[in-house]
Amino acid sequence: MSKYIHIREIDSTSTYLKCNYKDYDNFTFLSCDYQSDGHGRNNKKWFSNKKENLLFSILIKDEKVINNYASLSLVSAKAIIDILVEIGINNISYKWPNDVYVNDKKISGVLLEGVSFNGIIEAIIIGVGINVNSSEMDIEIKDKATSIYLESNKLFDIEILKNKFYKSFESNIENINDKKYLSYLRNNNYLLNRKVYVLKDGKKVVAKVIDINDDNSLKVNTEGEILDVYSGEVTIIND
Ligand code: BTN
Repeated sequence: MSKYIHIREIDSTSTYLKCNYKDYDNFTFLSCDYQSDGHGRNNKKWFSNKKENLLFSILIKDEKVINNYASLSLVSAKAIIDILVEIGINNISYKWPNDVYVNDKKISGVLLEGVSFNGIIEAIIIGVGINVNSSEMDIEIKDKATSIYLESNKLFDIEILKNKFYKSFESNIENINDKKYLSYLRNNNYLLNRKVYVLKDGKKVVAKVIDINDDNSLKVNTEGEILDVYSGEVTIIND
């Protein structure tokens, strides 16, 4: 059974669940109106005005789901995409492993963080930020980020979108083993055929993206060799 908690203000829903995971049940969804210290990947800040966007984290303690670690980013992205499709947003694509794009701009990001004890992962926190009603993006990300409002010219009720996400996430998780989420992500793969940098044995190499594999890794071709990429940033080369 999932638990849904909403709090007005907090430093970060993900930091809170990381520090307090022992006190909360598996599948606790914690959302907020405002984060004073929200973060994204690579230690970047994740800023959002109060009540403007969707900000929440999900606590995962179920061993079976934790063992499916590699699927969680993709399942979360698929649940985000489901709500965008439902409200009529077009030109959605999935940027492996954690981002959702609309018209070439990022609309949502997912951050997975594990909490380990004695070398064993005891919990995973999935942090999700979806730009909903922002009418202006910060100057540094203006060219790279968008919101549902900017794409549709309509304001949306955050609560309704959040509940749609929760439902879709739960149903995608229930069916995690049939990998239904993969076909949409493959067919709308933002990186497909793009030239990118990936890490190979710790070194940055140039590669062309070919596909997303059944085990959720990214299939690339680097100098004629097929490589399956499991982690690390994938940077697009614009030339
Ligand atoms: C990214 O694209 O870098 C991931 C962004 C994740 C942001 C969300 S907002 C809710 C949760 N709390 C945080 O501090 N971060 C995540």
